[in-house]
Amino acid sequence: MASYDVIIIGAGPGGYVSAIRCAQLGLKTAIVEGRDTLGGTCLNVGCIPSKALLHATHMLHEAEHNFAGMGLKGKSPSVDWNQMKAYKEDVIGQNTGGVEFLMKKNKIDWLKGWASIPAAGQVKVGDEVHATKNIVIASGSVPSSLPGVEVDEKIVVTSTGALELPKIPKKMVVIGAGVIGLELGSVYARLGSEVTVVEYMDAVCPGMDKDVQRGFKRILEKQGLKFIMGAAVQGVEASKTKAKVKYALKKSPDTEELIDADVVLVATGRKPYAEGLGLDSLGVKLTERGQIATDAQWRTNVPGIFAIGDVIEGPMLAHKAEDEGMAVAEVIAGKHGHVNYGVIPGVVYTTPEVSTVGATEDALKAEGRKVKIGKFMFMGNGRAKAVHQGDGFVKLIVDAETDRVLGAAIIGPGAGDLIHEICVAMEFGASAEDIALTCHAHPTYSEAVREAALACGDGAIHS
Ligand code: NAI
Repeated sequence: MASYDVIIIGAGPGGYVSAIRCAQLGLKTAIVEGRDTLGGTCLNVGCIPSKALLHATHMLHEAEHNFAGMGLKGKSPSVDWNQMKAYKEDVIGQNTGGVEFLMKKNKIDWLKGWASIPAAGQVKVGDEVHATKNIVIASGSVPSSLPGVEVDEKIVVTSTGALELPKIPKKMVVIGAGVIGLELGSVYARLGSEVTVVEYMDAVCPGMDKDVQRGFKRILEKQGLKFIMGAAVQGVEASKTKAKVKYALKKSPDTEELIDADVVLVATGRKPYAEGLGLDSLGVKLTERGQIATDAQWRTNVPGIFAIGDVIEGPMLAHKAEDEGMAVAEVIAGKHGHVNYGVIPGVVYTTPEVSTVGATEDALKAEGRKVKIGKFMFMGNGRAKAVHQGDGFVKLIVDAETDRVLGAAIIGPGAGDLIHEICVAMEFGASAEDIALTCHAHPTYSEAVREAALACGDGAIHS
């Protein structure tokens, strides 16, 4: 029986990053993964494949809408859907292969199969039981559906099935205007599907900055997505080729409405996944929402068993899991692992991108905090205009008295990258003036961040 310092269960971004950090810290490490490839949901059926499809379809959009105006004449490209999926598979393969290389490079054993935990200090994979001083559960999450909605991954699909559709649907109904619904909805709208998003709340991306919610919805509508807001989906009736989505508007809850679709994408959130691990018999405590309960150092109530990522509390984001993965490795190695949950960015990879970090204006005002808002529109950014991306803005939220940056929301070109300047500023306790006094190269999108910071003081220059 092999003996390890740490066995990590699950090779998604939380698990594999944790394994690498454990190995770097001198711990004898193994990772258990039952899929044929490493990388978990993110690399195999999540973040990475969806970004490949978003990229390809954005190129199509550019060719259809902007090429001629830039003097690039000729027929718009036609879509070879099978080739686009092959490109996506190639991207997945490069990334999962890269993780496998990193496991070998760091001398981490990949125990192939699905794990269970017969007792603290033991991990069973197949017929073999491995001894280990520590266990890190990084088993992730799975899509959660709705009552009355049966997913077959053909007509009624989750994000997994949506990446693999045999053909581009004429009509797609997306249930849920969250991150998955809007990213994949954008992909299919650009491919020519008629996409209708049915959302329970009155705004897209619940919880996000209000200005961004409004601007984002308007931009997506311009791109052809239709929205039915304030609508609770009650069920889906599916045949072999079509489906009907039943919903009721909140303002008339007794009237059943119907909408037809060739494909229905259920994007109503994800739930923690820990099936088959044997948590019940181990007595591992769960939260009310079914997540594994941990303390501030990712310890469960069972000594020697830790948990990180989507299976515990907090936003279900790959980068949050990665941070926890590194930090828990440091805790196990006797160091001081820490994650600043106040500075975890969120990004939606549509065009334009949307990103947020820290507190929202509304949440701060509800707490009674006095805040200043600095806003700058990308229409005033020369680079954005040069590439047809003048939609959107940078919004900085700062303390009215101290000028300290408390949060930000961006919608616009490169928003997913721009947000990190603000993350670093927040980690260093910077003020808006600190950002405003920092020279930003011209012409870059990042000037819009500086202008928003200037707008917190004596005023932006280009507005
Ligand atoms: P979500 O929680 O972001 O959005 C789900 C939406 O469905 C909500 O707007 C909710 O109000 C709506 N909804 C729920 N029940 C409904 C009903 N009966 N009728 C109509 N609408 C209903 O969940 P999503 O988009 O499925 O994403 C799951 C997780 O994956 C999230 O935690 C997300 O952050 C993460 N993710 C992150 C990505 C990124 O960072 N770019 C990309 C994809 C997923």
